[in-house]
Amino acid sequence: MEERMVSASQQWEDQTAEQSVRPLRLLDYIGQEDVKKNLEVFIEAAKMREESLDHVLLYGPPGLGKTTLSTIIANEMDVQIRTTSGPAIERPGDLAAILTALEPGDVLFIDEIHRLNRIVEEVLYPAMEDFCLDIVIGKGPTARSVRLDLPPFTLVGATTRAGMLSAPLRDRFGVLARLEFYNVDELTQIVKRTADVLDIEMDHEAAIEMASRSRGTPRIANRLLRRVRDFAQVQADGAVSYEIASHALQKLQVDELGLDHIDHKLLFAMMDRFNGGPVGIETISSTIGEEADTIEDVYEPYLLQIGFIQRTPRGRILTPLCYQHFQREEPSK
Ligand code: ADE
Repeated sequence: MEERMVSASQQWEDQTAEQSVRPLRLLDYIGQEDVKKNLEVFIEAAKMREESLDHVLLYGPPGLGKTTLSTIIANEMDVQIRTTSGPAIERPGDLAAILTALEPGDVLFIDEIHRLNRIVEEVLYPAMEDFCLDIVIGKGPTARSVRLDLPPFTLVGATTRAGMLSAPLRDRFGVLARLEFYNVDELTQIVKRTADVLDIEMDHEAAIEMASRSRGTPRIANRLLRRVRDFAQVQADGAVSYEIASHALQKLQVDELGLDHIDHKLLFAMMDRFNGGPVGIETISSTIGEEADTIEDVYEPYLLQIGFIQRTPRGRILTPLCYQHFQREEPSK
């Protein structure tokens, strides 16, 4: 994937930079109000019953706080969190090693859970349902199955693709939480909070400017803040004023909606080569040279959200709003 300022995917620098500014408690977590309120109830109820929290599936586009929420769940439940990912668990033995090392009540966070392979997934079912593992010992006619008890635990699964989860796995989650894009007001609060944590002096208008250009995504908002801070330090007195923020965002080539050259490439290809659609995702993919999965997971959700494209059974189409934004005539069809 081409490197881009407004990529919602986690980049190398984000990981450490984000960890230091992430909220650790639900109270400090801004946005996702519905998810937060429900989680608050489920967490309190589990604590009152002195049980582990039911398994939680967090799904939605990248960068909206799935990892952050999993850490918060562990903190609120007062337990440890173990973190892994679907592709990292290659064999049933890998999963067994992780599960048997858990303490009662612990959170096991599996990122990209839709990428677990089928064999591992089948070991996970009894672990989630009955807190036990069925292990086969020996080979051939003398092989026998042994049942191993596990401590009760909470599986928190994260995915950008709930639709790619198998039904038996999805059905074993007691809590399904869909994360939505953040609005500008929420992102403004997040940028201000991060600036506070990092001790950055910043104008309210500058915060709004970064929030409006971050595609509804805190990870992008915080990344823009770090880059704008660089401009403020080198080209001004260190304070992030509206002027320095606007100047920096222009240099970073992020437009007023947070769209960048890859979004432009996609939208202009649809306008100029496919007459605004309908056009299939595979065709778009080969035209602009980006993987279809990446387009679906990373670029398209925001373009759908702002109403620039629509999905139809015959393919993607551009909307009148998109043509208006680029001051183009809509094609007559
Ligand atoms: N930093 C990143 N995401 C956040 C959120 N939702 N609330 C507060 N700070 C954040």
